Amino acid sequence: MKALILSGGKGTRLRPLTYTGAKQLVPVCNKPILWYGIEAIVAAGITDIGIVVSPETGEEVKGKTGDGERFGARITYLVQDQPAGLAHAVKIAQPFLGDVPFVMYLGDNLIQDSLHRFCHTFKSRQLEALTLLKSVPNPKAFGVAEVDASGKILRLVEKPELPPSDLALVGVYFFSPIIHEVIADLKPSERGELEITDAIQTLIDLQKAVEAQQLEGWWLDTGKKDDLLEANRIILDAYTNCSVSGDVDTQSRVIGRVDVGVGTRIINCTIRGPVIIGDNCHLENCFIGPYSSIADNVTLVDMDLEHSVILQGARLENIHHRIVDSLIGQKASLKPASYRPKAVRLMIGDDCQIELV
Ligand code: TTP
Repeated sequence: MKALILSGGKGTRLRPLTYTGAKQLVPVCNKPILWYGIEAIVAAGITDIGIVVSPETGEEVKGKTGDGERFGARITYLVQDQPAGLAHAVKIAQPFLGDVPFVMYLGDNLIQDSLHRFCHTFKSRQLEALTLLKSVPNPKAFGVAEVDASGKILRLVEKPELPPSDLALVGVYFFSPIIHEVIADLKPSERGELEITDAIQTLIDLQKAVEAQQLEGWWLDTGKKDDLLEANRIILDAYTNCSVSGDVDTQSRVIGRVDVGVGTRIINCTIRGPVIIGDNCHLENCFIGPYSSIADNVTLVDMDLEHSVILQGARLENIHHRIVDSLIGQKASLKPASYRPKAVRLMIGDDCQIELV
């Protein structure tokens, strides 16, 4: 099998961060979201991976992720000239995919389950398509599947007013090469995209073997700020160690699971895990609360932070109110305040300069 990861798209829901960078490279627990997908695919024994990128962010994705050696994989980059839909991404990837079955993985999705079980179902039942489903409280916001007792999909509906079930389509799909024939005849939807749900529905209408399997663990679509913070919370809970490589002074208190990278200096701070702090950071007179991820080269002085993700090179100083539920872009800078609200909620893009006066 091969794998196709979709890492293009518009990323409108994660603006302003996506004006300057690829949303799939935004870190969760200090690792790009995209890399979790690559690792899951390699763990399932699939090492020939195509990554669909956009012309705007392709070089950044390529530069950061490389040729796949670090993952034990071979990565081929495929440029999609415009974000014309998930099925369009498969269409442009056809020369790479050839006549080999493949798993398609949306580069901003994270799932807890290993792919092994699904690979096995797909192969052993000789399916033309296998979709993964997750029961959600708000099915109206998703593509929803109606399935029979045996797991066969009867119908797919995109963001239905009256959902036929609470089973949302997760961003991981398995396809046989027959999908290319269907996509070749597909017409754009009302929003002008070639929809993968339409392609799967066509397979169902042609009575091809299309099944669904439910996830046991969590599924996170990190395309929005709050979902990304939730992903960060879950991954920090699961994976943080207690590894302190940096320099923590005797005035500081480190409580719970906290990772501190090399070259980082922590002076007179209280850090309550789970927290991850990257390399070459400077933290002074801070309280860092649970579920915070701080990337490399970040400076935090005289401030409180909790349940937030701070990207590389950001600088926040003398903030007299706690920063919570926030996503701060690369090299963003936040200046002192002269008034004191209880808390602020922020989503700050790369290179922003904010002064609270
Ligand atoms: P979406 O999150 O559905 O779309 P988007 O990235 O355009 O985001 P938004 O809705 O916020 O504008 O895409 C899911 C994944 O698929 C994501 O990693 C981007 C990728 N993608 C492509 O590679 N090509 C495409 O044409 C589209 C629509 C998405």
